[in-house]
Amino acid sequence: MNSKEINAELAQRRMSLRQGGGREQIDRQHARGKQTARERIFALVDPGSFHEIDAYITHRHIDFGLAEKQFPGDSVVVGFGTVDGRRIAVAAQDFTVIGGSFSEVQAQKVCKILDLAMGSGVPFVSLNDSVGARIQEGVWSLAGYSELFWRNTQASGVIPQISVMMGPCAGGSVYSPGLTDFIIMTEGVSHMFITGPEVIRTVTGEEVDFETLGGAMTHASTSGVAHFVAADEAATLALTRRLLSYLPANNVESPPAAPAVAPPEGTDLDSLVPVDGAIGYDMHDAIRAIFDGDSFLAVHADYAPNAVVGFARLDGVVVGVVGNQPGFLAGVLDINASDKIARFVRFCDCYNIPLVTFVDCPGFMPGTKQEHGGIIRHGAKIVYAYSEATVPKIAIITRKAYGGAYIVMSSKYIRTDLVYAWPTAEIAVMGAEGAVNILFRKQLRQAKDPRRMRTEKAKQFRKKFGSPYVAAASGHVDDVILPSETRDKLIAALVFLADKQASLPPKKHGNMPL
Ligand code: HXC
Repeated sequence: MNSKEINAELAQRRMSLRQGGGREQIDRQHARGKQTARERIFALVDPGSFHEIDAYITHRHIDFGLAEKQFPGDSVVVGFGTVDGRRIAVAAQDFTVIGGSFSEVQAQKVCKILDLAMGSGVPFVSLNDSVGARIQEGVWSLAGYSELFWRNTQASGVIPQISVMMGPCAGGSVYSPGLTDFIIMTEGVSHMFITGPEVIRTVTGEEVDFETLGGAMTHASTSGVAHFVAADEAATLALTRRLLSYLPANNVESPPAAPAVAPPEGTDLDSLVPVDGAIGYDMHDAIRAIFDGDSFLAVHADYAPNAVVGFARLDGVVVGVVGNQPGFLAGVLDINASDKIARFVRFCDCYNIPLVTFVDCPGFMPGTKQEHGGIIRHGAKIVYAYSEATVPKIAIITRKAYGGAYIVMSSKYIRTDLVYAWPTAEIAVMGAEGAVNILFRKQLRQAKDPRRMRTEKAKQFRKKFGSPYVAAASGHVDDVILPSETRDKLIAALVFLADKQASLPPKKHGNMPL
């Protein structure tokens, strides 16, 4: 062969590589409303930036008809490219090749690109669309999963890992995502489950459809497995790009800065918080009025809405925002809100993202359901996560900071650097009525007019603890500020704390309550 023929062979081979599992399978994929693996990668990365590797690999198994199902590249496409000019590593499962089933070779490819990403400090994005373990490959498939799960764990806290669910992800295909930092699901087409409806019917007799079992909204609002939901594939990939824009490439970088943008006008922050503690308000209104433009990206928006977490920019700098949500269940902390907050705080601490926490919380949710569900164990995660976090931490107490909620929500003594209070802040062991009922139980029982006595005592209690000045007079908060001053105060504080040095005692790792 001359060089022209040799080069022509490469061109010919490249053409066939683009076929995935063949025309018929690609048509079936499109008919399901889904793009192919490569179409998805091209929609995710900057035009012309994708470089594929391992496109020639084939599996080495022959049993159960596998000999006739050898496709170059097998059931995953891997490589690297850029998003907004920043490097990423990417793997996209190819459903057109034996349902994207997880083979020995798929494991080899994904592990290789993940190793390269980790070695180079580059985020890893996995576009998932798979029927799970390739049954025909038996232990080779399972061993491959183990290799991947081990790597996901090693990479955790070193490079951001994002799982994008774009098809039926069954069995082992959900545990790699479960180990990564963020899961984004496409509505309607993505499902995540350990055991499918057929197995559930056989084992338990329960009838359940795919959507109810493991659809995007199920995981976004009920299980908390998914952090984000998008309406279709284009929106899912756009959201993935947006999420990446807040994240540093690895744990020794700072998140990327952007030009500062003024917050939208229209919210009078100084009158946002109702003086009557029984009346709620939307913490999103405060967040919107303080941070840059429309920079707030809520994480877990549909899960535990009594807490708010997400990324935002402040004068162009990325911060992690945590807040109670007085507009839902009075912002109480329950099991799910605890998990939501703790996980987010730990992510921000891994990746050098300063934390800004807005506190308006009456305490932990009472009741046997919460106690028996382990609110002690789950609530402890919040205090553990904040105590362990060494990134700059700033808290703003907007209204109620009662009891345990005061302590766990980024209080001064779990090493929050600066704690500000709005004039509406109330820092107390509990609300006035509850406190009076306990402190004056005997007197109230004997009183001629218990209602009047309760009102009077509550008034006295409120006078003492119903404002931030007792806490400020003893240094428990660092300053009392007008809500409208918050943005400027936060910007100055973040500049001041930018080079914060903090370290934890030497240890292998702590034993976080799980
Ligand atoms: C190999 C498989 C397969 C599997 C499906 N296929 N599951 N091949 N191993 N596990 C094949 C199908 O025969 C089909 O091949 C192609 O993949 C696409 O599958 P369809 O059924 O046509 O797709 P769809 O209608 O979209 O249904 C998707 C599905 C269904 C709901 C996921 O395929 C399904 O229930 N599959 C079984 C899922 C499962 O139990 N996986 C193993 C989990 S155990 P053709 O040639 O017809 O296109 C596991 C162990 C690891 O993963 C646990 C670690 C923690």
